[in-house]
Amino acid sequence: MGIFSWKGPSGFSASSTAEEVTHGIDGTGLTAIVTGASSGLGQETSRVLALRGVHVVMAVRNMDAGNNVKEAILKEIQSAKIDVMELDLSSLASVTKFAADYNSKGLPLNILINNAGVMATPFKLSQDNIELQFATNHIGHFLLTNLLLDTMKSTSQESNEEGRIVNVSSLAHKYGYREGIRFDKVDDTSRYNKYYAYGQSKLANILHAKELTRRLKEEGVKITANSLHPGGIVTNISRYDGLSNCKLRVCWVYLHVKQFPRERLQHALWHSIHSSSLANPN
Ligand SMILES: NC(=O)c1ccc[n+]([C@@H]2O[C@H](COP(=O)([O-])OP(=O)(O)OC[C@H]3O[C@@H](n4cnc5c(N)ncnc54)[C@H](OP(=O)(O)O)[C@@H]3O)[C@@H](O)[C@H]2O)c1
Repeated sequence: MGIFSWKGPSGFSASSTAEEVTHGIDGTGLTAIVTGASSGLGQETSRVLALRGVHVVMAVRNMDAGNNVKEAILKEIQSAKIDVMELDLSSLASVTKFAADYNSKGLPLNILINNAGVMATPFKLSQDNIELQFATNHIGHFLLTNLLLDTMKSTSQESNEEGRIVNVSSLAHKYGYREGIRFDKVDDTSRYNKYYAYGQSKLANILHAKELTRRLKEEGVKITANSLHPGGIVTNISRYDGLSNCKLRVCWVYLHVKQFPRERLQHALWHSIHSSSLANPN
């Protein structure tokens, strides 16, 4: 596996699996929300969290797809504690409803994994007239986090367990518009570039986690916020972009990199339930 086997200070490498990273961890008593849990990384994150005993709430926009994933997980892990709730991150109304429904259940919330995403979509505005990638990848998660923060704070206070917020970003954050986030032109179709717009939304994920960390620290709250690049993994993320879909698959096969979610997805799990990740904020 060449460089993919090099181990970092954590003792894990880019080829470590989610199961390896969480080996020996008992997540019983913890509750996690995973957005975009119906596919790819969110699906595998939910499976491994459930395997470690975490109560997983899968937040999905397609309830049929979500329920199918839930069934598959339950088939493999009979003891899994897993629920599916509807959430469309591209709609502020849906995010608000999801948070209100969740908060009214009286459930604790230890872990929030802001994972759902779309990449390189043709220009489209969300219901709220926000460019779709920015709306889904950043604004929806930003609002969701804010609306769930009080529940996370009270959970960490009552349980004395550190809360974890994980924003799944991307290396693509480096490849956005030259001027950074175009706050005043996010919804401008005339200079829209679908790759830069994806990069911009992923940069926003990182800045969100950094500023949130700063504020939580200042407030003395026992919750950390991290962002991560998960690596290159074959999922449905390139569904809107035939070219990158094709390039990614050919490249990965050529390099013989282990590339499917079961083999490569470890970063989100590391930041969400591994105690050593406390030493590596952001
Ligand atoms: N795969 C990679 O190589 C890679 C690299 C860097 C970063 N990432 C990041 O990893 C995260 C997960 O992506 P993935 O690779 O697992 O892709 P994926 O297989 O396409 O999964 C994306 C998930 O997000 C959900 N989603 C999309 N729009 C949504 C919305 N409006 N509301 C709620 N859920 C929505 C999708 O639901 P539907 O199935 O209903 O569409 C799906 O469950 C993304 O944030 C992506 O940017 C991935």
